[in-house]
Amino acid sequence: MKLNLKIWRQQDAKSKGKMTDYAISGVEGDMSFLEMLDVLNEQLINKGDEPVVFDHDCREGICGSCSLMINGEPHGPDRMVTTCQLHMRKFSDGDTIVIEPFRAKAFPVIKDLMVDRSSFDRIQQAGGYVSVNTSGNTQDANSIPIEKDNADDAFYAAACIGCGACVAACKNASAMLFTSAKVSQYALLPQGQVEATERVQNMVRQMDLEGFGNCTNTGACEIECPKGISLENIARLNREYYSANLKG
Ligand code: SF4
Ligand code: FES
Repeated sequence: MKLNLKIWRQQDAKSKGKMTDYAISGVEGDMSFLEMLDVLNEQLINKGDEPVVFDHDCREGICGSCSLMINGEPHGPDRMVTTCQLHMRKFSDGDTIVIEPFRAKAFPVIKDLMVDRSSFDRIQQAGGYVSVNTSGNTQDANSIPIEKDNADDAFYAAACIGCGACVAACKNASAMLFTSAKVSQYALLPQGQVEATERVQNMVRQMDLEGFGNCTNTGACEIECPKGISLENIARLNREYYSANLKG
């Protein structure tokens, strides 16, 4: 395949960026989207040009590092896949592909297609954990009975990989789907009850401090999420938040 790429190039967070055109050939359908960018970068390096910076790590859909806006959709046109798991067979010979970074005030561009998502880390640090008593008297988690529906829903919420596609898809750049998944995975389990009140209050406070917008129930986040995180988690986050505030 031969493709025309329009890629966002930006030297650093302070510089003004711009779209740059690249023609690329020798792309095969079995290549992943990131492998296609590797081919482009090899060609750029061979010509003495600066390669395009993009984020990646596992390339297996697990780590949440890859983060491209492809033809206006976070992680591109396929459903339930990350950019690293998107294959070039989804595109056709001669296509023009527009590649941009995830755009949100709380995700500033570091360089080219790489953004700083440490705001997500700070939301996690604000409450996305359970404190465990390690005195030797800790009850074995496997001996605590948990209703099957709750166990399943907690498991599905825990599938969130923190990629940020939900933020990039949202017209308000809201982090509600991400935060709701992190709150839900504990709210549904007995181990999460002890710190439930402070957890939801602190995580929502941090989410607001980072500059993410609010949720207006559009649902774009759920459609673009590569892990199928459901909007039901946002409803649960709201219930948890209101009941925590009533407790004080
Ligand atoms: S909710 Fe989905 S889109 Fe948002 S960070 Fe988690 S996995 Fe990514
Ligand atoms: S590189 Fe890890 S999820 Fe894509």
